[in-house]
Amino acid sequence: MDLGISGRKALLVGASRGLGKACAFALAREGVAVTLVARTRDVLEQTCGEIRSTTGVTVTPVVGDITTPEGRQAALAGCPEPDILLNNADGPVPGDFRDWSRQDWLGALDSMMLGPIEMIRLTVDGMMARKFGRIINIVSRSVKIPQIELGLSNGARAGLVGFVGGLARQTVEHNVTINNLLPGIFDSDAQRRHINGMLEEGGKSFDEIWKARAAGNPARRYGRPAELGAYCAFICSEQAGFVTGQNLLVDGGSYPGTF
Ligand SMILES: NC(=O)c1ccc[n+]([C@@H]2O[C@H](COP(=O)([O-])OP(=O)(O)OC[C@H]3O[C@@H](n4cnc5c(N)ncnc54)[C@H](OP(=O)(O)O)[C@@H]3O)[C@@H](O)[C@H]2O)c1
Repeated sequence: MDLGISGRKALLVGASRGLGKACAFALAREGVAVTLVARTRDVLEQTCGEIRSTTGVTVTPVVGDITTPEGRQAALAGCPEPDILLNNADGPVPGDFRDWSRQDWLGALDSMMLGPIEMIRLTVDGMMARKFGRIINIVSRSVKIPQIELGLSNGARAGLVGFVGGLARQTVEHNVTINNLLPGIFDSDAQRRHINGMLEEGGKSFDEIWKARAAGNPARRYGRPAELGAYCAFICSEQAGFVTGQNLLVDGGSYPGTF
């Protein structure tokens, strides 16, 4: 299928590794010029080089932290009029809410709710005026299946999807869609960090937990980032203009409900 987005411009936040990188690759393969934002310069530049040499599209690196106004301005300076916006950043560390301060909560909100909303605020009106826009937020299955140890994610991400659910109904008449991708377990750095955070003195080892999580998924494996990237590219396609305000699970069927 020709996705009809060759020549478009995408601004991808949190795209030097893992799921964001896979989305950048998938869009670049469709001929989309991509601007990638992340905090760590060497990893970011290496990823940009890989995408450039594999696909031949224009690839722009922007070093910035999306939780800060400076980082968001730098992102926009790298791609002032994006047709596609991907919001993504670090997830939270697991823990017990009794140990979290107000500052911990504000950090989680900046990364998983307010940073993405600010990026949408800065780009959505231009998209509506140009009559094309695709906004994707990478969130987590935790918005449908609360993860007991991930209270910061359960709370902050629910705030984001609740907000964009309303906005998505206001933008779609201008051919601007907003959708959330809800990953289950994926073979990436965030998953490794998550498992490291679950290790307890005298408890199961990293390898035991890693294998048990795969075995507990109906697909008996972790998702591959490229699988989520391909789904993202379709949701960003010309053909997906009637899909908006959706929370789209990509989880090997781990969500147990019919609806
Ligand atoms: N992987 C999973 O199984 C899974 C499951 C459910 C939900 N998720 C969520 O999906 C998201 C992506 O996961 P992943 O596995 O792809 O993570 P990852 O491999 O750690 O990649 C995160 C990317 O975001 C960048 N980043 C992080 N914080 C940033 C910030 N403040 N500003 C700009 N860039 C930032 C990172 O680069 P720098 O560190 O250099 O900035 C990196 O490029 C996370 O929020 C995660 O919690 C993942």
